Amino acid sequence: MIRQATDADLKAILTIQRHAFGEEDEAELVRKILDDASAQPTLSLLAFDDDGLPIGHILFSKAHVDGASAFLLAPLAVIPEYHYKGTGQRLMKEGLKLLKENGTDLVFVLGPPDYYPRAGFKNNAKKLGFAPPNPIPRQYDDAWMVINLTGTEATGQVRVCDTISAQEYWSA
Ligand SMILES: CC(C)(COP(=O)(O)OP(=O)(O)OC[C@H]1O[C@@H](n2cnc3c(N)ncnc32)[C@H](O)[C@@H]1OP(=O)(O)O)[C@@H](O)C(=O)NCCC(=O)NCCS
Repeated sequence: MIRQATDADLKAILTIQRHAFGEEDEAELVRKILDDASAQPTLSLLAFDDDGLPIGHILFSKAHVDGASAFLLAPLAVIPEYHYKGTGQRLMKEGLKLLKENGTDLVFVLGPPDYYPRAGFKNNAKKLGFAPPNPIPRQYDDAWMVINLTGTEATGQVRVCDTISAQEYWSA
């Protein structure tokens, strides 16, 4: 089951992020994004197993491209005991469906270049006309990805919320 997260889910969300990444950084990132006025609106989804245990989380935050409605996906996490069961894909598909229903044109992600294309993301968004918010080392060009949900022809500079605008998130 997947549903939108509420304020009451914060502890479960941070636990999933911590557990999936094996460190505190992504949990801290989620906390900051949820508190960041420039990231609003966010879309925060939780996945549960059949017993109602929270096992996965995905966060989308508001981004900007002139002439289009845009979001950034970061981060996505599934706890290790539940990997390879399609939870990550389901979280992405549900998120993209809800964003499309709300009129979103473009969704961006910086991440594993052979994972996100399974949900329709295209590698090397820069080559497709979407300059990343901060410079990305050339060897990671394919990791900067975009999915066009509406067929918009808008391209250009992508801006993201203040939290994710920090260069530390783009130097990999
Ligand atoms: C990436 C992650 C969300 C995938 O969750 P999941 O529920 O296991 O994913 P799915 O079941 O939908 O997909 C599994 C497939 O993705 C592949 N995959 C998992 N992580 C991958 C990665 N980093 N790069 C490429 N492929 C990856 C698996 O090998 C598997 O492939 P297969 O279907 O050919 O066997 C999960 O592994 C995770 O939380 N990892 C730690 C955090 C992280 O790296 N998040 C993504 C970067 S922001």
